[in-house]
Amino acid sequence: MNDDNHISDPKSPDDVPISDLSYLYDEPDSRAYYQSLGALDYRTPEHVQQLARWCFGHFCGGEPWILDVGCGFGVNGAGLLYGVAVQDLLTRYDSDHMRQMSPESVIELDMQYFSEHPRQPCHMAGLDVSRSSLDYGLRTGLLDVAFDDNLMQAPVPDDLIRIVASGALIIESGVPIFIAPHVIDALLAAAGSDSRPWVITAPPRYTNVSVYSDVFEKHGYVMEQVSPDPLPHRQFHSPEEADRIIDQQIAMGIDSTAEKQTGYIYTTLFLARPAGEANKPVDFSPVVRALVHP
Ligand SMILES: C[S@@+](CC[C@H](N)C(=O)[O-])C[C@H]1O[C@@H](n2cnc3c(N)ncnc32)[C@H](O)[C@@H]1O
Repeated sequence: MNDDNHISDPKSPDDVPISDLSYLYDEPDSRAYYQSLGALDYRTPEHVQQLARWCFGHFCGGEPWILDVGCGFGVNGAGLLYGVAVQDLLTRYDSDHMRQMSPESVIELDMQYFSEHPRQPCHMAGLDVSRSSLDYGLRTGLLDVAFDDNLMQAPVPDDLIRIVASGALIIESGVPIFIAPHVIDALLAAAGSDSRPWVITAPPRYTNVSVYSDVFEKHGYVMEQVSPDPLPHRQFHSPEEADRIIDQQIAMGIDSTAEKQTGYIYTTLFLARPAGEANKPVDFSPVVRALVHP
């Protein structure tokens, strides 16, 4: 950490120091997380959810499972199970009334709030090392099942293998590049060759995306970029963070005009599918049209 307020050291050569918001994940409820991310207009889960809905239309029958890697407080469960938009969550907790409530009262209110929305026909499994965010997700109905295993260090539990092997759609939003590709690698290895789940990822442009492509290639997957244009991830947390990220992108040969003009970090949305299934070209334009730009 240095003086630019919670700057995390890069955890791998594929990363750049960015503002460390990880202290938010251990709260008993989602308020601090959404208040902080709301101030930065966090968008990535929106893109991931749009693509997940498109995937349901293409490959899913029945009531599919979704596995949300690094699910945090269940932003993707809210969107995919209950149709509650990310923007609604970012504003929901931004009131004096919410700030003054006890964690228990917020959880009870959220249980009621989500249960009043019609539920979509799918199941949500959450994987996260933050036990408190998983408990929040289970209690509020944003998760059906939760796993607190750190798959960078521990084997994939049997119950989770069964879900992945059932053809679950694996998604991640906002999980750092030194974690998500390695966890997905462990999941695909554990799923085995008979089960080939599709995977949605959204790494920010300042990261080295080849970490992902290496993992997918190893498992016989093809990784396709869904939107030709970069998509907004969140606003820069500070001018210093902006300088660091833009410098990194320029060193990587990335045109960073959008970042400079809008003050947003941008991300790239990918769908990874087994090579045999990905060899037929698909029309991503309905997803791309639905994606929101700043
Ligand atoms: C930036 S948050 C993203 C949360 C959520 N996906 C979102 O878009 O709001 C990153 C999440 O990754 C989780 N995480 C960190 N290490 C992990 C690991 N080894 N396995 C799974 N999740 C992990 C953190 O606890 C945190 O909830």
